[in-house]
Amino acid sequence: MPVKRPKFFMRIDVVTLFPDMVDIPLSDSIVGRAREEGRLKLGFANPRDFSEDRRGTVDDKPYGGGTGMVMMAEPVYKALKRVKKKGSHVIVLTPKGKKLDQRTALELAAHKHLVLICGHYEGIDERINKFADLELSIGDYVLTGGEPAAVVIIDAVTRLLPGVLKKEDATVNETFAEGLLEAPHYTRPGVWRRMKVPEVLLSGNHKLISEWRLSAAKDLTVRRRPDLIKKVKLEEV
Ligand code: 6GU
Repeated sequence: MPVKRPKFFMRIDVVTLFPDMVDIPLSDSIVGRAREEGRLKLGFANPRDFSEDRRGTVDDKPYGGGTGMVMMAEPVYKALKRVKKKGSHVIVLTPKGKKLDQRTALELAAHKHLVLICGHYEGIDERINKFADLELSIGDYVLTGGEPAAVVIIDAVTRLLPGVLKKEDATVNETFAEGLLEAPHYTRPGVWRRMKVPEVLLSGNHKLISEWRLSAAKDLTVRRRPDLIKKVKLEEV
């Protein structure tokens, strides 16, 4: 199924005990500029501010025993309520979620408001998931919390907003090559440590160059990520 067009402006609120873990990595480079330009508005809500006692407690021992602590539902719920509006797309970040891929990033970029809920410690009380539209993971490994995953997701989504990247075609991945690994890139000098840039790239023949790139992309993908070839074929049907 084709995916809706990315929004021009977008707001993302992150529910997290550690806003700096998300704010600081997203203050530089392309995403930092998108924020300065107001194309991406990034906000935070900290469950700690909604704790129910004076000590600021937000976690507790798991029912049934076991190691680690579990984030309590109520402070997370109150932080969510603070930022959620009608039309918000609410996402809980968890290694148990649907695995992020480029198509999912495109789908997320079509929403005008995302709320990303980051778990920490052993995770969040399961009952919070009732208030989410989606549970999302960034891959099959375990992080200390959802915050680095939020950074990854926000980066992947922001670069899809029209004009955030200088070259628009960098996002609409060169038509045929979509879903494949990219052909290798080279820049000056033409010979570096006795290694030459492939001749065709110096030819100035744009048709030949696109053909070479498509073929290099296919070869690389077949050798390294045959699973992606199957995925491209499935999506062509
Ligand atoms: Cl979203 N959270 C955590 N804690 N670990 C992860 C993840 C998320 N995605 C992959 N590993």
